[in-house]
Amino acid sequence: MPFRPRYTGLISKYKDRLPVSDDARPISLGEGNTPLIRLNHIPRDLGRDVDLYVKFEGLNPTGSFKDRGMTMAVTHAREQGSAAVICASTGNTSASAAAYAARAGMRAFVLIPDGKIAMGKLAQAIMHGAEVLQIAGNFDAGMRIVKDMADHAPVTIVNSINPYRLQGQKTAAFEIVEELERAPDYHCLPVGNAGNITAHWIGYCECAGKRSEHLTDACSYCGGNCRYASAIVGDRPTMIGYQASGSAPFMRGGPVQEPDTVATAIRIGDPQSWEYAWHASRESGGWFDECSDEEILEAQRWLAAREGVFCEPASAASVAGAMRDIRNGRIPEGSTVVCTLTGHGLKDPDVAIRQSGDAIKTIPAELDTVRRAILDKL
Ligand code: F0G
Repeated sequence: MPFRPRYTGLISKYKDRLPVSDDARPISLGEGNTPLIRLNHIPRDLGRDVDLYVKFEGLNPTGSFKDRGMTMAVTHAREQGSAAVICASTGNTSASAAAYAARAGMRAFVLIPDGKIAMGKLAQAIMHGAEVLQIAGNFDAGMRIVKDMADHAPVTIVNSINPYRLQGQKTAAFEIVEELERAPDYHCLPVGNAGNITAHWIGYCECAGKRSEHLTDACSYCGGNCRYASAIVGDRPTMIGYQASGSAPFMRGGPVQEPDTVATAIRIGDPQSWEYAWHASRESGGWFDECSDEEILEAQRWLAAREGVFCEPASAASVAGAMRDIRNGRIPEGSTVVCTLTGHGLKDPDVAIRQSGDAIKTIPAELDTVRRAILDKL
């Protein structure tokens, strides 16, 4: 069997479609190249004939899609001679920024909302040596401070308002198109700060050789590096964004002052990529909708128990929404649908274990008791 070259991350793979200089030295942990998993049971349970896939971004090196953007943002920051990065975060961005900064030999400052980030994410930021600044405020408050901070301290912002982040994240769309050999009909994503849905639209537009009418600002950073002209596929998907009901500014038509949801990753009331995401949605003929916390947790359980895929609550919003829209026919039968699972379930063990209720009991360590417990369940 011929040897395949070692996979060394998305900058190496997509160099000619990303804004990176020829002599850039990528800061990489081997991000990207995540599996596109075809769901078997859920479409059958729904009784609908759809080709339903999940793109499991929880299998990136720090367990979320943020690594795609972070390899680009940190590579560029280091190239510019920056010594430190900063972000506000509901958890995953801070974990990713901390890891990539460590790899680059840079400092990371992360602002996180007091008590509202999942344990796994906090553990990552701490272990990677970030300066963790826990603020008595939510993500939106942290974001406002971070945006001002760049004028007051020599730090590079690595939230998705950093255009290199979106450029890195667009590669998820490239991978999907390569694997399906076409664009899906529908692409469903959870929406928080609204960067990822924007990045996917940029990626799909590039694959289709079409320039987005409205995202030229977000695209312009590539300096013509991306290959609009070399269309790989003709079509682009309909983009669908799902928000948690308690944090759904797109559904309320404006910022939500006190966002709240069990899906802490998307507990965001004032999305930074608001305009871009609206344009992406409209241009694609798509829509936004909301899912209740109960729907989100039910989809998380279904994915884990029926498909063997364990994602974090925020990620499950994409599948919760898609299941509803497949059931009600808004996503018609015969469609090819991709849902992005943005983060790994191990990020938030507390929410997972809380769902077990009192199902876990301690029993005597005896053969007979254990045998009876098994036979009871068979
Ligand atoms: N899913 C997960 C697991 C996330 O961590 C986030 C965002 C999203 C979805 C939403 O993506 O913001 O691009 O619309 N997390 C950010 C963070 C805000 O700080 O980790 P988005």
